[in-house]
Amino acid sequence: MFNKLMFWKKRAVSSNLQERMALLKQQSIPEHVAIIMDGNGRWASKRKLPRIAGHHEGMKCVKRITKLADELGVKALTLYAFSTENWKRPKKEVEYIMSLPEQFLGTFLPELIEKNVRVTSIGYTKQLPPHTLKALEDAIEKTKNNTGLILNFALNYGSRSEIVQAVKNIVNDCEGKKIDVDDITPDLFSTYLMTSNLSDPDLLIRTSGEIRISNFMMWQLAYTELWFTDVLWPDFKEEHLVEAIEVFQNRQRRFGGV
Ligand code: FPP
Repeated sequence: MFNKLMFWKKRAVSSNLQERMALLKQQSIPEHVAIIMDGNGRWASKRKLPRIAGHHEGMKCVKRITKLADELGVKALTLYAFSTENWKRPKKEVEYIMSLPEQFLGTFLPELIEKNVRVTSIGYTKQLPPHTLKALEDAIEKTKNNTGLILNFALNYGSRSEIVQAVKNIVNDCEGKKIDVDDITPDLFSTYLMTSNLSDPDLLIRTSGEIRISNFMMWQLAYTELWFTDVLWPDFKEEHLVEAIEVFQNRQRRFGGV
């Protein structure tokens, strides 16, 4: 019989890592982890491979990090897979990235379903190619009642557009007398964002040595702990996520207090 948990079972972590994971679980695990997955192109160039080979390897990395996040008890994992600015890339590269949701979900969806993972998305997904959107919507539909890890793909996502859209919707609702200007608070504003069903990220990871936010969740990251690593996304392994959470657990979060 086809084993739905093929990937989950196959990828065992070392005993040393298991010990570190057990220690992590004794303290607070970040509920929402967001990742800017960067460095696929450089990973490929270093090996004299086409850039799309880096994206393919990056997709494999999404599998192992999803699995580990689930095992650690992370509640939501948001992955920045394609920004509103990424359309500027060569056509072939964009086409390849747009095939990744199908490739990923085509092989991995049964395991995600089995593991109670819920797939969601943020971004202007209606503008994705029909085949990409179909794969995504199919996964969202098939996992909508799952109650485990939320695997949230940011696809054709941009924070500035999201904020501008929220402002427009708020203005409309004010003009339509659905809300009053005095009702507008940070909490209300958050409900107009694409992330309204998620808590703000507790931990943001960016790979590949770039130290910037790149139009990603700028409102939501206000009090997020940031962790940057030189590791390129395709090289990002279980131990790197464990390290990021170890660092997170040693940070003092004060949210502006003392
Ligand atoms: C940035 O690296 C990476 C991307 C724009 C694509 C990220 C996509 C994945 C990791 C796979 C997503 C998987 C699914 C299932 C949707 P870059 O190309 O900018 O790297 P560089 O800075 O080294 O050139």
